[in-house]
Amino acid sequence: MNAPLWCVVPAAGRGTRVGGSIPKQYLPLAGRPLILHTLERLASHPRIAGLMVVLGDNDAHWPGADLLYGKPVLTTLGGAERCDSVLAGVRALPPEVSDDGFVLVHDAARPCVREGDITRLLDLGMPAGGGLLGAPLRDTLKRADDAGRSEVTEPRDHRWRAFTPQMFRRGELSAALQVAYAAGVTVSDEAMAMERAGFAPLLVEGAEDNIKVTTATDFALAEFLLSRMK
Ligand code: C5P
Repeated sequence: MNAPLWCVVPAAGRGTRVGGSIPKQYLPLAGRPLILHTLERLASHPRIAGLMVVLGDNDAHWPGADLLYGKPVLTTLGGAERCDSVLAGVRALPPEVSDDGFVLVHDAARPCVREGDITRLLDLGMPAGGGLLGAPLRDTLKRADDAGRSEVTEPRDHRWRAFTPQMFRRGELSAALQVAYAAGVTVSDEAMAMERAGFAPLLVEGAEDNIKVTTATDFALAEFLLSRMK
């Protein structure tokens, strides 16, 4: 349980919905690239030993960071889908992370994750063999038809929204992602790969303001949230 804990940070997305040609993880948030806020938040956690940032091909915007809070920041090349990037990141981790050792995966686009939520994921997720931050669904859930009309109201109980970080053993996660890849299945998160492999990841409730910054409104909200956390 005391093995060095590394975090893989997929940042190879080309999501440019907000900022023209610049991927969203490099757009300024409170005056600095969004990704730097995320990396500093992770590196400042006392139990995280290093970061593996997964970058896109020909990435001209990576601000560069070798060391944050005295922890190594390494980079590797990602793939076409998020799950390809995560698999590349897990494979590129240094050998000090054993196959039995746990690995965190956290989206570059989630700068507002709280230190206490990461700690709770570690404390509850390790004895459970792995888990993820999330929150139970609180809104009423509708299924839409092709015309955008509400067709049916889905039950809300037992439904959760999945966030990151997600945490699994390096060897098991790598194998689960590889099996999904070989089957041609694009898993939308690590937990989905693990579920397909027969695991039951523990859902650890975290703050709902651990938002994935996607739209211009999200940028404004993330700035507000970060200013309140200081
Ligand atoms: O696109 P989305 O917001 O779901 O991406 C979540 C995270 O995965 C982002 O940090 C993005 O940079 C990363 N990603 C990646 N490789 C891809 C697609 C997305 O690392 N091919």
